Amino acid sequence: MAKAPPPFPDRHLPDVPVEKIPASIGIIMDGNGRWARRLGWERIKGHTAGIDSVRDTARAAAELGVKELTLYAFSVENWKRPRAEVTYLMRLLRRFAVDERPEIERNGIQFRTLGRIDDLPDSTRNELRESERLSVDNDGMVLRLALNYGGRTELADAARHLAEEAVAGRLDPASIDEAALAGALYDPSMRDVDLVIRTASEMRISNFLLWQISYAELVVTDVLWPEFRRENLFAAIREYAGRERRFGGLVTG
Ligand code: IPE
Ligand code: IPE
Ligand code: MG
Repeated sequence: MAKAPPPFPDRHLPDVPVEKIPASIGIIMDGNGRWARRLGWERIKGHTAGIDSVRDTARAAAELGVKELTLYAFSVENWKRPRAEVTYLMRLLRRFAVDERPEIERNGIQFRTLGRIDDLPDSTRNELRESERLSVDNDGMVLRLALNYGGRTELADAARHLAEEAVAGRLDPASIDEAALAGALYDPSMRDVDLVIRTASEMRISNFLLWQISYAELVVTDVLWPEFRRENLFAAIREYAGRERRFGGLVTG
């Protein structure tokens, strides 16, 4: 007798138990420049091509039941790049914010930014804010774009905020614990990241989500970001599902 198809054929990986699907995934989207140069093109073409990877990956993650997907799109250190590349990236981000609204709506995605958004060019910031506003009542996956983001900057900003509260008499310094610090981060509702994926082979964190990745599992792939598709996400999740997470404890049994 033929086996009955799974109830939601597109909603999970048949070989990964639902409870092993990471609730929160962060991706360091790297290798855009290398991808373009390999084809003899300008680096910026790689950034444009990377948009298709974002779309396919976000859709697949939402279908799998991932709760939060955080994509590292521009670090506080990326301002060091040539001005023309930075300008191009800012325009691309603005266009992304506008063009992806129907897709975000269709999938019920809650779109958010993470980082020092106020320091972005006005038009980029405004369109990003508008996309956040439009999707605020959605109840599907949270899709965060880490933009003008630095893990150290986030921690320094949180420390300053707590110090200001203490000086104003609203906070007792003795009460500052891990929960208080987590509550002062850019998005206090953000959960700990379970899986960090980095594309393009580099074995480093590059200032991404330092607080939230304390016990994340790391998967580094050779695939360059413009070539990354849902199959590559599935492969990373399979690797994650096979890992033993101990959180400093011992595995019993
Ligand atoms: C990642 O690709 C995109 C950003 C950091 C904005 P890169 O532009 O870093 O590409 P490579 O690493 O130089 O190939
Ligand atoms: C990390 O990539 C930043 C983003 C993906 C936005 P980089 O290309 O900037 O990192 P490094 O310089 O190789 O560490
Ligand atoms: Mg890079």
